[in-house]
Amino acid sequence: MPSPASCMQGLALSPGSRDEAVENVRSRADILEWVGRYVKLKKTGRSYVGLCPFHAEKTPSFNVRPDKGLFRCFGCGASGDVFSFLMKMEGKTFPEALSELATRYGVELPRRRPVDAQAQQQRSRMLGLNESAASLYERNLWDQQKGGAGLAYWRARGLSDELAREFRVGYALPDWHHLSGKVIDQAPKLEDALSLGLLARGKRGPFDVFRHRLVFPILGLDNKVRGFGARALGDEDGPKYLNSRQSPIYDKSEVLYGLAQARAQAQRAGQLLLVEGYFDVLSLVAAGFPTSVATCGTALTDGHAAVLRRFTSKVITIFDGDAAGRKASLRAARVLLAGDLAPYMVSLPAGQDPDSLVREQGAAAMAKLIEGARPSVEVLAEMALANAGEDVEARHAALAELLPLLSACRDRLRQAGYLRFLSERFGLDENELRRALGKQQQGPGPVARSEPAPTPSRAQPTAPTVVHHEEETLAVLLMRFPALAARFAESQVLSVFSAGPLGGLVAKLLQPAPPAAAALLAELDDEQLRGRLTGRVMDEEILAEAESAAELDQWAFRLRRRRIKEELRKLTERIGQSERSGEADQTQQLLESKMRLDKELLALSVVGRTGP
Ligand code: UTP
Ligand code: MN
Repeated sequence: MPSPASCMQGLALSPGSRDEAVENVRSRADILEWVGRYVKLKKTGRSYVGLCPFHAEKTPSFNVRPDKGLFRCFGCGASGDVFSFLMKMEGKTFPEALSELATRYGVELPRRRPVDAQAQQQRSRMLGLNESAASLYERNLWDQQKGGAGLAYWRARGLSDELAREFRVGYALPDWHHLSGKVIDQAPKLEDALSLGLLARGKRGPFDVFRHRLVFPILGLDNKVRGFGARALGDEDGPKYLNSRQSPIYDKSEVLYGLAQARAQAQRAGQLLLVEGYFDVLSLVAAGFPTSVATCGTALTDGHAAVLRRFTSKVITIFDGDAAGRKASLRAARVLLAGDLAPYMVSLPAGQDPDSLVREQGAAAMAKLIEGARPSVEVLAEMALANAGEDVEARHAALAELLPLLSACRDRLRQAGYLRFLSERFGLDENELRRALGKQQQGPGPVARSEPAPTPSRAQPTAPTVVHHEEETLAVLLMRFPALAARFAESQVLSVFSAGPLGGLVAKLLQPAPPAAAALLAELDDEQLRGRLTGRVMDEEILAEAESAAELDQWAFRLRRRRIKEELRKLTERIGQSERSGEADQTQQLLESKMRLDKELLALSVVGRTGP
C-alpha cells in the first residue's frame, strides 16, 4: 500500500510542544499502513474492511476509514485511531506508540531534560552489555566443544533446538572469568556489569555470576534483553535458579518471561496463561500454548497485572495443585482482580507443574485442563467448601479468605456477580455479605493496604460517563460536518450541555481551527463512549450535507426540551416539599418559576416543530 506519508519523511518537523508533536504524527500517519501489517483489507466505498485482529471471526466486521484516521470493529467494539491501534495490537504504551510513529514519519519529539539524557545513556549501555552477554551465552550453547553440557540438559528435558533458538536460550560455561574476560574489558562496562548482576566483586577481582548454568534471557516488550534467569545443571551448584537483580533496565515487578514472544498471539487468543517457572513457559509453548508467561522469581504484582491488561482481559493461572500452589492462585487472583482482569484457574494434580504434566501426560491432557479452566473465585470457593464440609467455623474461615478477593475487584459489576455467587454457595444472605465486605473495605485491614491501586494509564477503563443521546448526536453531527460550526455556535445549544466530556469536545470543534475528529475522540477516557462515537463518525454518510443543518436544529431542540423538562421535574419536587413545610412565600416563587418554564417549553415546541 503506497503511503502518502512516506514521501514526507525527509521533512523533519522541529519540535514544539508534545501536543503539537502528537498532532503532527497523527496527521502524517497512514492508519492503513499500520493496520495493513496485521489485517488483509479490502476496499468497500470509503472504508476498508477485514477480519478483526482483536477477536476471532469468520466474516469481516473490522472497518478502517483512512480519511478519518479511525478504525472500528462492529463485532467486538474495538475502536480508535492509529495510536490506539498500535497500543492494542502491540501492547505498546502511549509514549512507545508515539515514539515509533514519530520516527516513521520524521516528526521530532520534544527533547528530554539533560538529567534524563544521562540516565538514558546508562540504560542504553546496559542494554548493549546484556545483549553481548546473551549472544555469548547463546554461542556457547551451540558450541560443539564447550557447550555440550548445556545443550544435553536442554534436550534431555524434551525441548527442541528451534525452541531454544526462538527463546535465545544460552549456556554459561563453568569458567569464573569467561564473561569478565571476553566482554567486559574496560572500567565503565565493569561498573555496569556489576550493577546488572552479571559479575560480582570477589577478593581477587570481579568474576562471572552465572557459571555452568542454562541461561534464559528475559526480554522486554521491545525485545531487548532486560535480565537473565539461570538454571543450575547439577544439584551441587548452589541455588537451582539465579536471577538477575533489579537494575535501571530491569524492573522485576513489571517484566514477564515469555510475554515478548507471546504478544503477537495474545490478542487473538483472548487469554494469557500465567505459570510459575521458566521451564513451564517453555514446555507450554512447545506443547502448543504460545501465550504462556511467568513472573521471574517474584510473586505477581499489580505492575505485572497492568502490563497483562494491555494484552488481554482474561488470565488463566496454572499452578501446582498443592497447598502452596493454592495460596499462589489465591494471591494471583486478588492481584488480577485489582488490575481489572478476569482470573481463571487450572488446578494441577498435587506435585505437578505445567512442565512435568505436559511431559508425563502430553499436550492433549494439558489442553483439556486449560479448556476446563473456571473463574479462580469459583474454583477457590469450591475447594474451600469441600475442605470445610459442614463445619460452620471452617466455612467461616474459608469465607474470610475469599472476601479479600471481592474487595480487590475494581469492577463493581464483577464484584456484584461474585457476591451473589458466594452468597449462594455459602448459603448466606447477599446483603449480609455485602455489609461484611463494606466493613472490610473501610478498615485499614491488610487487604486495603497491601495492594496500591495501579497507576492510571490510557489503557485503563474508567467508570462509564452518563451521556445523553441528544448531546452525543450533536457532537457526531459536528464531527461529521465541520461546516455546521457557525450554525452550532449561533444556536448556543452548547450552553445546555451537561458537565460530561462532550461539552469540552464540542467547544474545541467550535474553535477557529478545530482539531481532527480522531484527535478529539482519542482524548475521551470512557472507552464505551469513545467506541460508540467512533462508530457513528465513521458510518458511511447516509445523511446529505443539505439535510445536516435541519438535523442539527432538531437535535438542538430536543436537547433544550430535555433540559427544561428536567428543570420542571426538579421544580415540581421542590414545590411539593415547600408546600408540605408550609412555606407559602417560597411556594409562590417556585410556582412562578415553573410557569415561566412551562411557557418556555411551549414556545420551544412551536419553534422546534416548524424550525427556525
Ligand atoms: P520451581 O522450583 O518450581 O522450579 O521454581 P521449576 O520452574 O519447576 O524449574 P525446574 O522444572 O525444576 O527446572 C519456580 C520458579 O521459581 C523461581 C524461578 O523463577 C523458577 O522458575 N525460583 C526457583 C528461583 O528464582 N530460585 C530458585 O532457587 C528456585
Ligand atoms: Mn518444573
